[in-house]
Amino acid sequence: MVQVITIYNQSGGVMKTSLTMNLGYHLAQHSRKVLLADMDPQASLTVFMGLEPADLEQTIADSILNEVPLAIHRGIHQMDLLPSNIMLSAAEMQLTSLMAREWRLKRVLETIYDYYDFILIDSPPSLGILSVLSLVASTYVLVPIQTQYKSYKGTELLLDSVRQVQAYVNPDLKIAGIVPTIYAASNAQDKAILLAIQEQLSTVTQIYPPIPRATAFADASMEHQPLAVHSPSHAAVKVLESIANSMEKLK
Ligand SMILES: Nc1ncnc2c1ncn2[C@@H]1O[C@H](COP(=O)(O)OP(=O)(O)O)[C@@H](O)[C@H]1O
Ligand SMILES: [Mg+2]
Repeated sequence: MVQVITIYNQSGGVMKTSLTMNLGYHLAQHSRKVLLADMDPQASLTVFMGLEPADLEQTIADSILNEVPLAIHRGIHQMDLLPSNIMLSAAEMQLTSLMAREWRLKRVLETIYDYYDFILIDSPPSLGILSVLSLVASTYVLVPIQTQYKSYKGTELLLDSVRQVQAYVNPDLKIAGIVPTIYAASNAQDKAILLAIQEQLSTVTQIYPPIPRATAFADASMEHQPLAVHSPSHAAVKVLESIANSMEKLK
């Protein structure tokens, strides 16, 4: 059975895209067949994976509008990629006039379920329709929260949007857990927010170990590499590996 997991947070810069690519890589290293789907018109995942969005003739936008999975790029760091570019913004507007628009991504992915063990969807930094499409297509949502007050404060809104999707469109959607991200153990605010996440949110869902703040993540993405390829002995690699292991245990 394929696991479809959206990496979701309505804030930008909380590590959604980096987490999507890195978890995908670790799962692929476990011989899982992995597809990464870029649902952000800003196309950071597509760029991180080494493609030039403006050069793409077909993207996930075509798949959603025409319901055909045309645009898969195979074998990038042992993963496949359904890329995005700015055309996804245009698609977002066209979607508003389509029937059953919430189901459009799910319909596309269903046709390729058999080929994959994991489909990881990188979502845009908004609560808009592209995020809804992602959550409707998913069995699980994984939530990165930066260990900063501003990010933590947005959690209630975020969880509420997940509940709305569960209530009205996808009752099968489950929360895989929360990943505290960009954590600086030397910073008092980061420590306080990590503690708050662990204390307040562990009643709601699983809290995974924090991913440390590290410029190596930016360096790795500049080189279009997962951290484990760029800096194999970096401490964060073990954390990513343990979260990937948890993703494999999801029922
Ligand atoms: N653990 C980390 N520590 C420091 N910087 C990070 C970390 N993870 C990601 N980054 C950098 O922060 C920026 C935002 O990360 P990104 O994954 O694109 O977040 P999002 O998709 O939520 O907007 C990128 O430049 C990325 O390289
Ligand atoms: Mg992103």
